[in-house]
Amino acid sequence: MEPSRDNPLIRFSAFWWGISVISLFGVLVLILWLRSGGNSGIEPLEQAAAIKRYEVRASIDAAQKASLDSWKVVEEGSTVQVPPTAAFEMVGAQLIASKPSKIEDPAQVIPNTPTAEKLAGGPSADYAAVDALTPAEGTAPDAALLAKGEQGYLLCAACHGPDGKGVQAGDITVGPPLAGSEWVTGPVSNLIRIQMRGLTGPITVAGKVYNPAAPMTAMGAASSDEDVAAVLTYVRNSFGNSAPPVLPEQVKALRSEIGKPALTEADLIPVK
Ligand code: HEC
Repeated sequence: MEPSRDNPLIRFSAFWWGISVISLFGVLVLILWLRSGGNSGIEPLEQAAAIKRYEVRASIDAAQKASLDSWKVVEEGSTVQVPPTAAFEMVGAQLIASKPSKIEDPAQVIPNTPTAEKLAGGPSADYAAVDALTPAEGTAPDAALLAKGEQGYLLCAACHGPDGKGVQAGDITVGPPLAGSEWVTGPVSNLIRIQMRGLTGPITVAGKVYNPAAPMTAMGAASSDEDVAAVLTYVRNSFGNSAPPVLPEQVKALRSEIGKPALTEADLIPVK
């Protein structure tokens, strides 16, 4: 063995160099751990905000679940219990499956994006002409259309409640009431445009101002003219409401609204 390799001094210093490097690393990890809050009970700001979000989310989930638990839907003539989460799972799966792609179809435009703003500058449909097509007061809705609308309402019920009385999570509005809403029995063009573009910001329903936690999403693009007409006819003739049916051709005439920014109350034809 060469004497220089077996120098006890070199061994001694190598040992302490090793120990120092390892402890330095340990101190670094300790500093990082303390900076991230340690276990002192003090949450970094970001985490504290997330906790609040999770609390709000949990209260909304609980309110929706409670409101949907008793929900039944008519299917092929018989009434069957539908799991309350089924509708959300379906929508969730569709959202996850969607990929960003070049926008060619207005139905794919997301409200409030630059593309939507550009589209908003386009010509708007003749709302008065659409409202003029509404059947006369007292026209009874078709029974088959109503039954179809009742099924379609399952999705609306998540936010507006099976009884149309709205869903509240404490003082947070998930969805305002449709029962007794002057918007529901008012001009049909308002209702169709809400389906095509969504609705955001405060809204007054039956004399009460609602400030929803999240806007109503545009849902009409994914449904046929018939399905939209059916669900709107259903809400106009349920929960104590009564108004003439909505026609598929009225829905068709307002498809050009798809892709435009979400509506606010000021964009609607005033009611009462
Ligand atoms: C994700 C929750 C959600 C779903 C699902 C939903 N809405 Fe809404 N809806 C809202 C919210 C929130 C508002 C109020 C939006 C605002 O003003 O900010 C609203 C407003 C409305 C309004 C106008 C205000 C009123 O209370 O009269 C109508 C009409 C309406 N929705 C109909 C429907 C119909 C019909 C469906 C089913 C096809 C539906 N909504 C599904 C959340 C929802």
